[in-house]
Amino acid sequence: MLEVKDLKKCFITNSRRRLWAVNGISFNVEKNEVLGVVGESGCGKSTLARLILRLVEPSAGQVFFDEKEITGISRKTLRPIRKDLQMVFQNPYASFNPKIRIDKALMEVCRYYGMSISESREKIEKLLNDTGLSGDLLNRWPRELSGGQLQRLAIARSLLSEPSLLVADEPLASLDVSVQSQLLNLLEDIRSSRSMTMIFISHDMNVVEYFCDMVAVMYLGIIMEMIPASELSCNSLHPYTRSLRDCAPRLDVFKDSSVNLKNIIHGDIASATAQIPGCPFAPRCPQAKPQCSQNFPQLREISDRHSIRCHLT
Ligand SMILES: Nc1ncnc2c1ncn2[C@@H]1O[C@H](COP(=O)(O)OP(=O)(O)OP(=O)(O)O)[C@@H](O)[C@H]1O
Ligand SMILES: [Mg+2]
Repeated sequence: MLEVKDLKKCFITNSRRRLWAVNGISFNVEKNEVLGVVGESGCGKSTLARLILRLVEPSAGQVFFDEKEITGISRKTLRPIRKDLQMVFQNPYASFNPKIRIDKALMEVCRYYGMSISESREKIEKLLNDTGLSGDLLNRWPRELSGGQLQRLAIARSLLSEPSLLVADEPLASLDVSVQSQLLNLLEDIRSSRSMTMIFISHDMNVVEYFCDMVAVMYLGIIMEMIPASELSCNSLHPYTRSLRDCAPRLDVFKDSSVNLKNIIHGDIASATAQIPGCPFAPRCPQAKPQCSQNFPQLREISDRHSIRCHLT
């Protein structure tokens, strides 16, 4: 359904340095599969999402959707495909025009995709209901809504065109746990009633493990490990994945003696402008050996659906 080949994005910073936000990412997502993308702040998740939907132009690489390349084509050719490709943005305040009332904003989307007025109203009402929102919100301005309400509206809006690929950038970040599970159930229902492939960006390892089929673990613009979500707890091999997993809050942390606190990483992610010769994670890796700082590790397949970029495995 989606194939990403050696995708790269280099920004030029104000100090005229090259910042490789995405630095050679490749993966496939099968039809109806959910790929989770995790990694610390600044590792390039949102840039990757924008590149996939061509909201920013890549510096190199290709994206294929349903076997058609969408990277090289003109905006005009891309337009009819847009209906099938939707995104939920990380910041809901920035994704609604403050000067357009909510009902108009949603009706506008329906009109753009050729729906009649009655069909649009029916669809909007159903999606508001599914996302746990009241119809009263339609008469309000974006500034009159809470972050969580806007986030749910952004999810509802992205589903209006019944996309076959949804890229959701931290869609549950500002929501209560109860609303999170309601929305996860909604997405799961949509996926089982009609197929929908998803890229699900999140900081929450527990949600990713529960909701996704595969997980890509990103660090400084590259994939460190690609692993089935069901194996995240028991079979992740990269020290970075293990650190993220061990840092995730768990209710059973004090009961479960197998939880390993020695993997917890310290310090911040390095700047993506820094040129590090070896493994980019080596300066923070609790298990780093001298060879880790010398050679750049390649992503190796260690089993059918499991790949890892580490000198130590
Ligand atoms: N337009 C831009 N110009 C310059 N640098 C940018 C631009 N957009 C993003 N960056 C930089 O690219 C890197 C990746 O940013 P990105 O927003 O993709 O990270 P992220 O993984 O989504 O982080 P977060 O988890 O905080 O949302 C960061 O270092 C960021 O400062
Ligand atoms: Mg982001």
